Amino acid sequence: MEKIKIIMDVDVGIDDAIAMCLALGNEKFEVLGFTTTFGNRRCEVTTQNTLKILELVGRTDIPVAPGAVRPLVKEYNPPEFSIVHGYDGLGDMADPLPQPTITTCGKSAVQFMADTLRESDEPVTLVPVGPMTNVATLIMTHPELMPKIKEVVLMGGSTIKGNASPVAEANIIQDPEAAYILFKSGLKIKMAGLDATWDGYIAFDELEEFGKANWLSEKIYSMCGIYAEHYRERMKNPGLAMHDSLTLAWLVNPELVQAEDYYVTVDINGRYTYGMTVTDVDNVMKYKPNATVAMGVDRVPFINMIKEAIANLAAQKK
Ligand code: RIB
Ligand code: CA
Repeated sequence: MEKIKIIMDVDVGIDDAIAMCLALGNEKFEVLGFTTTFGNRRCEVTTQNTLKILELVGRTDIPVAPGAVRPLVKEYNPPEFSIVHGYDGLGDMADPLPQPTITTCGKSAVQFMADTLRESDEPVTLVPVGPMTNVATLIMTHPELMPKIKEVVLMGGSTIKGNASPVAEANIIQDPEAAYILFKSGLKIKMAGLDATWDGYIAFDELEEFGKANWLSEKIYSMCGIYAEHYRERMKNPGLAMHDSLTLAWLVNPELVQAEDYYVTVDINGRYTYGMTVTDVDNVMKYKPNATVAMGVDRVPFINMIKEAIANLAAQKK
C-alpha cells in the first residue's frame, strides 16, 4: 500500500500528542519528521514535549526539528486559553513524562522541511496543527519547493465562532499573518477547523473505557485531566475535542469528513476580528475557492481510528 508521506508541525499540547500517536500508529502514514513551533506553550517546551512523546511510544527514529519561537508580526506570550494543556503542555500530570534522553535533529524546522522536500522522490503532505509560522516561512524562503508540497492539511480556523476570540481560532490568531500568507499561496489546502473538530470528540462517558484499553491509552488518559475539565466545565462540550487528529483522519478516510470548497482569507487588520478566517460560503466575492473546509465529521469511526492507532503503538512497544 502506498503510504502518505507527511511532515507534522506541532505545538504539543494534549491533542497534538494524541495526533502524533495517530500519525505513528496508522499504517497509512510515513512520518518523515515533526517540526515544532510556539503555540500552546513556548517552542522550547513544545519541542521537549514532542521528544517526550516519541520516547514514550518508542519512535526515537523520527527526526524533530525546532522552529518558530514567535509569530511573524505580533508579540508572543503563551496565551491564557492554552492553559487547557497544563503549564507543561502535557496536562501537568502528577507522574509527568521523564525529560527526554533524545534531542533534536540539528536543523531548524524550515531547513528540515526544505531538505526533506528537496530530497523526497515524491511530493510531501504538510500537516500543521499549531500556528502556521513555520510553513509560511518555508514557502516565503523556498518558493522553488512548492511543487514538492502535495497539499497542506491544517488544523485551524472556523467559519463560525472562535475559541480564542469571539471569531478567531487559536492556531490562526496566534499568527494571522502567517495563515494569511498560506491561504494566499495557491497551495492545495484542507482546513480542518472548529466547524468539524468540535464534533470530533471523545465523549466523557467513553473516557474511562478509553483509558483502560492499554498502557499507552492509560498514560494519555492521565494527561487529559485538565483538558477534560475545560471541555466539560467551560466549553460545555459533550467530550474532549480531538482537533489536531482530524487532519490525519481526513487523509486516511476522506469519507469521514463532510467538506466544501470555499474562498478563505484571514483578517490581519481588524480590531475585533483579527485572526478570523473569513470564509465566503455564499461566494459573494466571486473568488475561486482556495481551500476545502471541513464542515462535519462522523465522530465514532473517527475516534475509533484514534483508539486503533494508539493500540497499534502500544503493542509495538510493550
Ligand atoms: O484551536 C485548537 C488548536 O489550538 C489545536 O491545535 C490545539 O492544539 C491548539 O493548538
Ligand atoms: Ca495544536
